[in-house]
Amino acid sequence: MDYDLVDVTDPADWLAYHAIRRQELFEGKGRHGIYDENYPGERAPNMHHYLLKRGGEALGTTRLELREGATAIFRLVAITAAAQGRGHGRVLGQMVEERAKAFGVTLLLVNAAPEAVGFYEKTGWHAHEWDREELVGIAATCVQMRKPL
Ligand SMILES: CC(C)(COP(=O)(O)OP(=O)(O)OC[C@H]1O[C@@H](n2cnc3c(N)ncnc32)[C@H](O)[C@@H]1OP(=O)(O)O)[C@@H](O)C(=O)NCCC(=O)NCCS
Repeated sequence: MDYDLVDVTDPADWLAYHAIRRQELFEGKGRHGIYDENYPGERAPNMHHYLLKRGGEALGTTRLELREGATAIFRLVAITAAAQGRGHGRVLGQMVEERAKAFGVTLLLVNAAPEAVGFYEKTGWHAHEWDREELVGIAATCVQMRKPL
């Protein structure tokens, strides 16, 4: 497997990270003018930002948010439109799960976009309401899911 899961620290990686998130999770879904690279809390110490690369090409992103109780939340999972449907999302999930396990995480949570629920079901997640108060704003229609590790 020639994939790399990069901890985003390099300026070029930050550019790719924000470009993928802005396009695939905001503008590509008709949400213009609201993506904020400096969203409050993004750089908190419990936030881990990942960029999936293959052959040097940036293919996808996610942010792992560590919580108390050996729990973590997958946030803003995205594969570039041109690369979707080729197994990269499954690889991103597997690689981030390994990082989560290394942090001692035993339970993953996500607010899944309705159109992505099938992806999560295929990769071992199940519907489970874990915090109804999160289902506001752009997450209002999301389906809460979990995956024990
Ligand atoms: C959802 C997303 C991350 C999936 O990544 P991907 O690379 O396209 O998915 P993969 O090719 O690895 O698919 C893995 C499996 O899930 C299935 N799958 C992928 N997307 C699916 C979908 N939207 N609905 C149902 N099944 C889906 C695939 O068919 C595949 O199943 P298989 O192994 O039986 O063939 C990607 O499509 C994406 O970035 N979408 C736009 C942003 C988004 O909505 N993100 C989710 C926010 S919660």
